[in-house]
Amino acid sequence: MSRKKIVAGNWKMNTSLTEASELVKRVVKEAGNAPVIKIFFPPFTFLKPVADELTSSNDFFMGAQNCSEHEKGAYTGEISASMISSVGGKYVLVGHSERRTYFKESNEQLTQKIQQALKNNLVPVFCFGEQLAERKSDKHFDTVMKQLTVLKNFPKEQVQNFVLAYEPVWAIGTGETATPQQAQEMHAYIRKTLSEMFDASLASGISILYGGSCNAQNAKELFSCADVDGGLIGGASLKAEDFCKIINSF
Ligand code: 13P
Repeated sequence: MSRKKIVAGNWKMNTSLTEASELVKRVVKEAGNAPVIKIFFPPFTFLKPVADELTSSNDFFMGAQNCSEHEKGAYTGEISASMISSVGGKYVLVGHSERRTYFKESNEQLTQKIQQALKNNLVPVFCFGEQLAERKSDKHFDTVMKQLTVLKNFPKEQVQNFVLAYEPVWAIGTGETATPQQAQEMHAYIRKTLSEMFDASLASGISILYGGSCNAQNAKELFSCADVDGGLIGGASLKAEDFCKIINSF
């Protein structure tokens, strides 16, 4: 089975409404024909306007950067998976390192968020990756293995439809990218771990994206790695020209 190729833009807490719709319009126009799945992860306030721009476009999807672990109720300021789904969302990021670090999201919470996503037909894009100190002390494989244990809370039939994103924290927003060798080595390790946790067919069929200072210059080399199926792009996804180049980097 050939794996899905995916390029996703995580806008984080950036853009105005006008910038959001201009960015999406340009990417749809200039990279619409690329035979890869393209996903925008705008801030919550722009989910619906972004979805509206995508209605007639192929292979473009919208997702949210986070969802609540609760179904609904008195959780002021939170956004539920069903709300995201109701405005046309198809994906949701779970476990981004900024959420783990600044909002102290635990594995238990991440499990609940994934449960909410699945109940509402959102595909979880499960993010993980090691800190600089962990890589320096050669603990990066152990860290990633522990982060992946969240997946054990779900049956194979569900996990096989997830998307995974390996994002080494030391590469996020730093301009320092993992080398293609480092990315390939970790992605191969992730597949080996999934093969042991589930089975070989799940491990070889699931899409694993690389994230962390991926840009228009280095995307081609990263995406040419055997086990890298695309990218989760931060800063470079805010510039239409760069994001289009990345989409066309396979
Ligand atoms: P940068 O591409 O800005 O390093 O961000 C990566 C990221 O966190 C995507 O989720």
